[in-house]
Amino acid sequence: MPIKWNETLAVGITEIDDQHKELFARMNSLLEACNKGKGKEAVLPMIAFLEEYGAEHFRAEEELQKTSGYPQFEKHRELHREFLRNVRMLNAKLEEHGPTLPFVIEVNTTVVNWLTAHISKIDKELGMFLKAKR
Ligand SMILES: [Fe+2]
Ligand SMILES: [Fe+2]
Repeated sequence: MPIKWNETLAVGITEIDDQHKELFARMNSLLEACNKGKGKEAVLPMIAFLEEYGAEHFRAEEELQKTSGYPQFEKHRELHREFLRNVRMLNAKLEEHGPTLPFVIEVNTTVVNWLTAHISKIDKELGMFLKAKR
């Protein structure tokens, strides 16, 4: 089943939604690579992408929170840090054991589940706050 961003995940702020779409698109290409038996090759660039683009996306969201005086800023930032810590843990695992198939599956489920849960609740709350301010 393809991993797709859909309207139920919209937070209503174009900049944020576009970045979420990109994250989902990339997770989907990892899944597609898996289906073609190329998951192992795709997982290393995927982790690098998550570390880089994830951090960039979080910075963008945090900047919006700071400039708008978002009251949940600290809590939200902590959740972002937790995600990046998880990605670093995945990276360490990859370095230690190599790209096994169970690992590729673990990356996929961990990241997609985290993103879906975080966007549906935490980012949506932020979206509502920002929309009310605009
Ligand atoms: Fe986000
Ligand atoms: Fe967020």
